Amino acid sequence: MLSSVQLVLLATSVSAYPWVADAVEGRPLDERSLSGFWDTLRLGAKDISQSLGGVLKAQNDGKMKALGGEIKKGVDWIYAQANATEGFEGWPKPSLLDKSAADLSQELIYQTYNLDRVSNPPIWPIADEGHPYVAPGPGDVRGPCPGLNTLANHGYLPHNGIVSPDQLVRAVWEALSMSPDLGAILTVAGFVFKGDIDTMKLSIGGQVRGAGVGLSQHGTIEGDGSVTREDSALGDHVKVSQQRLQTYYGEIAKYGTNGYDINPTVCAESRYRAYQDSVQNNPAVDFSSTRHLIAYAESGFAMEVFRGANVSCTAETIDWFFNKEQFPPGWRRRNTPVTATEMIAWGMLFNKIKPTEPVRGLGIKGHPVKAGSSFLSEGTVKSNIEKFSGGLIKAVPKAMKYMAEALGQSGPLAGLDG
Ligand code: HEM
Repeated sequence: MLSSVQLVLLATSVSAYPWVADAVEGRPLDERSLSGFWDTLRLGAKDISQSLGGVLKAQNDGKMKALGGEIKKGVDWIYAQANATEGFEGWPKPSLLDKSAADLSQELIYQTYNLDRVSNPPIWPIADEGHPYVAPGPGDVRGPCPGLNTLANHGYLPHNGIVSPDQLVRAVWEALSMSPDLGAILTVAGFVFKGDIDTMKLSIGGQVRGAGVGLSQHGTIEGDGSVTREDSALGDHVKVSQQRLQTYYGEIAKYGTNGYDINPTVCAESRYRAYQDSVQNNPAVDFSSTRHLIAYAESGFAMEVFRGANVSCTAETIDWFFNKEQFPPGWRRRNTPVTATEMIAWGMLFNKIKPTEPVRGLGIKGHPVKAGSSFLSEGTVKSNIEKFSGGLIKAVPKAMKYMAEALGQSGPLAGLDG
């Protein structure tokens, strides 16, 4: 959902940009800045109407209750499965909530969530046992998320890429150890903003009749400054870019531990490079405070989710997931569930290593303006979770209320969001 700051900025852009910036910089008004200006308007207006569409849909109490009911089915299954698993050490406690960016380090996060793989033998089965890879066929949709594409290729999600809320929450847990708090929040955002809440189906790719506009649609969830995808204004924002992948592998070789293992510096540097690319080349770059927070947290997926139960996460691991969209041979998910708290903590750590600011392009390449403050460099893990979920609570309160009920006020994850 666009924040009030973004709305004000967009309104300002209508009356003031890009002429103000040109005047400030002493540059003549050229054709490029004018076309960038119209691009900005076009994209901004589309984003607003899409987000508002989701907000309006989410007013329907009956539909939101049904969405919550679907999520609950998935969550109940997960709790039962986890608790019946021998060696499962329980749900992580939200002990990092009071930490600020200055307090965070890889060692602290590893200690808190028991992520030392050397002394923790894997407890979950090999990912493709019973879920072999099948390449997508002509009728199957795939989208901008390497995680969900892989899950559909292995049949954790329906192979055609059209999913229900229950299937989505379950699959990200069953195949990748994503805890229900994080799975449910992404599911709510996906269904409300990009899915069809009459049929309760969502396309993980482009628009499909009866399954919404799909996750590939730019705006609200899919955004600019992705590590392996182009910005929608500049190229293909859905398929992985081979050029960006090569750049990413170069970053792993340069900054990785022992020259091959992804660490917080790799995540921070690759995120910074993707951001700079958008800032320099996309006149309509949209990297709001919320997008900033999500994009940094998303970088934690490479650090910790694709690593699975392995000690190292290498360029080869990334190639399997991002390029082949398959599980690496023999791959197992990590023992400890991946919660929203942990992902926000990683995002704050990466931004501490290589800070950036939220920006919005108002039509001139290389000269976006500051768009709100960076949540990640201020406050605590708790306040950042509140900023993230608080935005959704304000925008789609009924959906979030039923989601919280599905997670269980007194269940194992109670209190995880502070
Ligand atoms: C539960 C539901 C999920 C939804 C609705 C979802 C949706 C999305 C969307 C729309 C994007 C594009 C965002 C962008 O423009 O950068 C994305 C990116 C991404 N997703 Fe997911 N995702 C989900 C779960 C996962 C899981 C379980 C993983 C596993 C690790 C994952 C890994 C990633 C990564 C690494 C990216 C960034 C790609 C890049 O920067 O190039 N996602 N996801």
